[in-house]
Amino acid sequence: MSTRKALDILKTVTVGGKDLVSSGFLGSLSVEGDRAEVVLLLPATLKGQAEAIKTAVEKRLIEGGFKPEVRYRIREGKPPLRVNVGPVGKTKKRIPGVKKVLAVASGKGGVGKSTVAVNLAVALSKLGLKSGLFDADVYGPSVSVLLGLEGERVYVTEDRRFKPIEKYGIQVLTFGVLVKEDTPILWRGAMLHKAYEELLLQTAWGDLDVLVVDLPPGTGDSHLSLAQGYEVDGAIVVTTPQTVAIADVLRAIKGFEKLEIPVLGIVENMAYFVCPDSGRRYHIFGEGGADKLSKITGVPVLVRVPIDEYVSSGGDAGVPVVHAYPDSPSGRAFLKLADTVRGRLLS
Ligand SMILES: Nc1ncnc2c1ncn2[C@@H]1O[C@H](COP(=O)(O)OP(=O)(O)OP(=O)(O)O)[C@@H](O)[C@H]1O
Ligand SMILES: [Mg+2]
Repeated sequence: MSTRKALDILKTVTVGGKDLVSSGFLGSLSVEGDRAEVVLLLPATLKGQAEAIKTAVEKRLIEGGFKPEVRYRIREGKPPLRVNVGPVGKTKKRIPGVKKVLAVASGKGGVGKSTVAVNLAVALSKLGLKSGLFDADVYGPSVSVLLGLEGERVYVTEDRRFKPIEKYGIQVLTFGVLVKEDTPILWRGAMLHKAYEELLLQTAWGDLDVLVVDLPPGTGDSHLSLAQGYEVDGAIVVTTPQTVAIADVLRAIKGFEKLEIPVLGIVENMAYFVCPDSGRRYHIFGEGGADKLSKITGVPVLVRVPIDEYVSSGGDAGVPVVHAYPDSPSGRAFLKLADTVRGRLLS
């Protein structure tokens, strides 16, 4: 059973004359085996019909061979999801040459956002999509290390646009290759915004299906620059199983919701460790954090990535695990994540 099949089924459900998917009422979808977890985001005007819509969705999915779990939330405020919420009087810009933009974020630092963003971008390319990665972390860009880009140069095209670096089948741009390591960066406010503008709009992205954007920790400047100025089609949030991470990650989810950016799901990173000697599973960083977040927000957990020695050593060596070991448990988790993202963003 694939995410795409479930989506096709959901498209046959009509609400107010429009199909459920293009109406923007589908908050999230997660498919695992024959289980399909659906969260509907319905406007307050449809409150009275919510149960009937839920039942219709369940029925269609069952007819299609799925075991559905359907929930709904009533959105306060106005639908639909894809509205322009940029600075007053301005509409959001689309990044030229890019079909869909996906932000990878977390309210918390060090949970593995960059690792997830890098492996997701490479996994999307393995699935046959044209994929790119933009490292939006001005102050601590780590993508150049994770992809082994040290020493690479960024060239400028004839029409004076940046040419992304090609690595592992993806197109990449990071402040890490534009700013020398020992140069202190003191950009803020308007300057930072300008730097984004230059990089995002003046890069010759070559006809990308998806541009993955690795956001820095927190919910500060760069998130706002990105999300208010440009169309962002979806976000995924990364967390660890520790419950202490929850408040920060919750803030990040709420932030995206406020900006009307659909949060596709949660990635629980460093979820467990499998001892190679005994095969036993250890929950080194605790258990249940992502599920708890999911319960509070209605946003599904998309994958759980185990703690894997190769994820960190490969990261240091500039070789993503999904490239070197696509069949390892962490490699497979990233491929599954890519499949879900493809289903949600591109069908
Ligand atoms: N599943 C994993 N197994 C083992 N190590 C991991 C895993 N995920 C991430 N790491 C390691 O954890 C460290 C932090 O990861 P990463 O830089 O991706 O986090 P981040 O959230 O982007 O951090 P920052 O907040 O600084 O941007 C890195 O050394 C990385 O190699
Ligand atoms: Mg990072």
